Amino acid sequence: MNKPIVIQGAMQVEVAALVALLDDVVIETGGGWTFWLGQLAGVPVVISRTGMGMSNAAAATAIALERYAPAAVINQGTAGGHDPALLPNDLVLGARVIHLGAFQSPFRDAGAGSDTLAWRPLDLMDQSETANFTMPVPMSFDADPDLLAMAREVEHATGRVVDGVIGSSDVWNNELDRIAHFHARYGTLVEEMEAASVAQVCGQYRVPFLCVRVVSNNIVNGSAHDVATANACQRFVAALTQRYRQPVAALLRSRSPAEEQ
Ligand code: 5AD
Repeated sequence: MNKPIVIQGAMQVEVAALVALLDDVVIETGGGWTFWLGQLAGVPVVISRTGMGMSNAAAATAIALERYAPAAVINQGTAGGHDPALLPNDLVLGARVIHLGAFQSPFRDAGAGSDTLAWRPLDLMDQSETANFTMPVPMSFDADPDLLAMAREVEHATGRVVDGVIGSSDVWNNELDRIAHFHARYGTLVEEMEAASVAQVCGQYRVPFLCVRVVSNNIVNGSAHDVATANACQRFVAALTQRYRQPVAALLRSRSPAEEQ
């Protein structure tokens, strides 16, 4: 049996269009998370509704990797723009995802206020237990190169497709200076609340990962939130799974996730 591709979305509106395309659907649940197993035009997939935020995403990913031993994980859904050029319905392929939720603040005395732009990124993967595990740039996780190459070939009729850096945290940022800081210093194109967490877990299991996000809002250029953009993203990812039938797919399938320890 071919290994499935896990396709994740945080909210029902971010998975509903994919679920509607499935044949031979079997619904499974675990710990409050829902998984729809089926065939997407002949390709075995597991659609996973992760819930919002980093912890939900990490847990749903670990369950999916343990239960379904997928060939790859695609995290997709809506995102908010950091780049003023991005408009609703544009798609961002996450060549890299970075963790925008792990920082250490320099000391400030009582009454001195807070300056989040001075906070230093933390390396949560550092196992050395040293006192100082700050880094110049946040933890970063690369997309699987084959999945990224396949995604670059997929048509997207309703907007542009760009690739670059996606930033994740449990924060929805609306402070323009903080957004400009992330964009200028780390090159973030969009932000959302799950991808870096998913990438971190996939990295531990050595399972290929890609994040595809649609711009649903962009406070930098005044674009209001339009959650219907989630449908275009799901259509794109459905088309991406069809590329999976092609030769690169065989290569991906032949990789088995490394047995840890
Ligand atoms: N900031 C953070 N998360 C966003 N999302 C959409 N737009 C943004 C934004 N500007 C996504 C997150 C989360 C939900 C709130 O929508 O990934 O799942």
